Amino acid sequence: MRSRNLIVALAAALAVTSCATVEQMKASMTEAKPAKPPVAYGKPISEADIAPWNIDIRTPDGKGLPPGSGTVAQGKQVYEAKCAACHGPDAKGGPQFGTMVGGINSFTTNQRVLTPGSMYPYAPILFDYIRRAMPMDRPQTLTSDEVYAVSAYILYLNGLIPDNFVMNAQTMPTIQMPNRNGFILDDRPDVHNERCMRDCKPIRG
Ligand code: HEC
Repeated sequence: MRSRNLIVALAAALAVTSCATVEQMKASMTEAKPAKPPVAYGKPISEADIAPWNIDIRTPDGKGLPPGSGTVAQGKQVYEAKCAACHGPDAKGGPQFGTMVGGINSFTTNQRVLTPGSMYPYAPILFDYIRRAMPMDRPQTLTSDEVYAVSAYILYLNGLIPDNFVMNAQTMPTIQMPNRNGFILDDRPDVHNERCMRDCKPIRG
């Protein structure tokens, strides 16, 4: 009997204890929580931080071309120091890439030769590409002057500018590229161009 009383007493004590715990829990759940700390990583990006990444060029009119300039002669020096190892002498083809010269008007034949001269509809594409991607083993190491100069050299080798041409943001978009009108409009529905239904440009010239 004694021991039974003890058990009852213990059970009651346990119940009280556990009730107290539940009450505590309930209370702690309804207590005002401390304010969430503000997000503790990142910071608003400034225009100055964006500038080095914001290098795209609107190629038809050259919007976004940076200040700077370069001549054909300077470009030949840049080319020989930084490009010839892969592209070969006078950009006529080397161990890493075929010719970057010629092929103009080859697109209507079966022997198409794709070069900046034969393919690019706008000269500023050349600046954009070289600045981003070349030299392939050290991309984005050229100064704007070097990119202007080496672009001048490549377009000069393609017969598209004279040897005294000074390449800069104003002159580059004025170069008449031979394949300027060689592209047909992309008429897939997602690009929302209007599909040509009559008097369309022939795909083969
Ligand atoms: C380490 C080798 C290497 C070096 C150095 C290099 N290139 Fe290239 N270049 C390539 C390769 C490979 C391609 C083809 C890339 C591709 O098709 O994706 C290429 C492609 C190009 C193209 C595109 C040609 C086209 O028909 O559209 C141009 C322009 C170009 N390089 C210019 C340059 C210039 C200018 C330099 C020097 C400043 C240079 N490259 C240095 C390997 C190199």
